[in-house]
Amino acid sequence: MVGGRGGGGAAVRAEDLRVAQGQVIGHRIACFDALPSTQDAVRELGCRGEPEGVAVFAETQTAGRGRRGRTWVSPPGGGLWFSVLLRPAMTPERLPQIPLAAAVALARACRAAAGVTPAIKWPNDLLWEGRKLAGILTERVARPDLPPFVVLGIGINVDLPEDELPPDLRRRAVSLRAAAGGAPVDRASLAGAALLEIDVQYRRLAAEGFAGIREEWRSMAAWLGCPVEVSGPEGTWTGMKAAPS
Ligand code: BTN
Repeated sequence: MVGGRGGGGAAVRAEDLRVAQGQVIGHRIACFDALPSTQDAVRELGCRGEPEGVAVFAETQTAGRGRRGRTWVSPPGGGLWFSVLLRPAMTPERLPQIPLAAAVALARACRAAAGVTPAIKWPNDLLWEGRKLAGILTERVARPDLPPFVVLGIGINVDLPEDELPPDLRRRAVSLRAAAGGAPVDRASLAGAALLEIDVQYRRLAAEGFAGIREEWRSMAAWLGCPVEVSGPEGTWTGMKAAPS
């Protein structure tokens, strides 16, 4: 393991995270100095038949990706960049609930580790004062020769080196440290809290369905009841943002 760039404190080490083993998530944790993307590392483990719950962290990603093919900037020590293998016993139409449960889990982890409770922007973002604090990426792998699985990817901006960011990202993104008023955030504690909370919320979702997390999700959701405009190839609709059912 590694030394990070220092902004986000000491590197996250697997041995610091052993206490973070939940019932499903975190039975095996691997931490790397650098990977192209933790999504690909976990995808490979999934294809090799690894049980669900394995988590892979990287201090930095050289090809981190976000939704819709966007690049996810993942500088060393600037955040938590990790992915978790899930094998949910859910019908495919329920899979979009996984990032909702993950968002609740991450918001709780930010509150526990840094005293900051972000807002959840449906479906996959955590915001602080309108700027992006964390993103969630779920990728389903369905190959004819393998049981399907899901790779849940999490990026939390903990202490981004603002002067090294492209100007548009500097405007749109925020670090947990800044949200916490400048107090340093211990990334190992945050990672431990995140894994444990993902474990709790994932099991709740499996046992109770979305009903198990709905109220907490609603209490954190940004823009519920606000006017929204949705544009697609067939036109633009306006309406009120409602909670998922
Ligand atoms: C988004 O908001 O677009 C989702 C961002 C997800 C980024 C994380 S960082 C860890 C994992 N590895 C990746 O390449 N992406 C996800």
